[in-house]
Amino acid sequence: KGLVEEINHISASSADEAEQLRIKYLSKKGIITALFDDFKQVDNSQKREVGKTLNELKTLATDRINALKEQFANQSADTGKYDLTAPGASFPIGGRHPLSIVKNEIVEIFARLGFTVSEGPEIEDDWHVFTALNFPLEHPARDMQDTFFIAKDPDILLRTHTSSVQIRVMENSQPPLRAIFPGRVFRNEAISARAHCIFHQVEGLYIDENVSFADLKQTLLFFAKEMFGADTRIRLRPSFFPFTEPSAEMDISCSLCGGKGCNVCKHTGWVEILGCGMVDPNVLDNCNIDSKKYTGFAFGMGIERITMLKYQIKDIRLFFENDVRFLEQFKAAY
Ligand code: PHE
Repeated sequence: KGLVEEINHISASSADEAEQLRIKYLSKKGIITALFDDFKQVDNSQKREVGKTLNELKTLATDRINALKEQFANQSADTGKYDLTAPGASFPIGGRHPLSIVKNEIVEIFARLGFTVSEGPEIEDDWHVFTALNFPLEHPARDMQDTFFIAKDPDILLRTHTSSVQIRVMENSQPPLRAIFPGRVFRNEAISARAHCIFHQVEGLYIDENVSFADLKQTLLFFAKEMFGADTRIRLRPSFFPFTEPSAEMDISCSLCGGKGCNVCKHTGWVEILGCGMVDPNVLDNCNIDSKKYTGFAFGMGIERITMLKYQIKDIRLFFENDVRFLEQFKAAY
């Protein structure tokens, strides 16, 4: 009876103390366990009643001690301290880089015209970056000033434009060819707000029978309208690239002022966005494509430039610094 009373009043202030109570009453050498040993000496006539009382005592002690332990198990998870219904802290989620957003958009626009995507290596050889593209040996673009060479080997270099991928694709497949080539390019230039030694381009190539300059113009007009809005106009100015003939540079009507004149377009109403032209027959021949049977056009644009125009970004270096205050602003853009 005394023990029942005692056990009804046990308390503990920690999980450790509760364990001490279990040892005291229920372990091999515990008080209740000892009573079970004594039970062997109880007179047979009383065994039934005493046994029942002992079992009840053991159950009581086990339940009480388990209850104490549970209380501490819960408390160690600090249930009491916190409001479990409070909303959780949100995980910081990254955003897509603005250059990736715009690259994906360019890929999607050309995909609607049936252009597929191919990629080529960033470390290239002279053939794919210059020679196959009809650059004469003494052309200034081969100069050390523009090109990063790997070690001292003049044949191994970082590609200065994605036109190298044109060559790789034409070497490995026959027309009809319709693909774009996004990628990183490298030029040994001083870094400023307008230029960087690393930037990104998307190259486009379309080769088939009877491809004309009109096809080039219509394709690029479609792109400009999709990218910068349905009101966008384009203008082609004669230019020169060794690998296209004729060659042109394409301007779009300034998307900020609509052609009226502002700081972005230096009050001309036009901004240059890409170079293009009809693939020079020499280039087709260099890639074993029959230049009598096939014609084609090519174009190349800088992704940084398109992104800066689209989002009014004034300094190209922002793309490479990866300051989250800059990057965060594009979370809603895709
Ligand atoms: N490769 C040229 C550049 O980097 C762009 C270009 C591509 C021009 C294809 C014409 C045709 O400036």
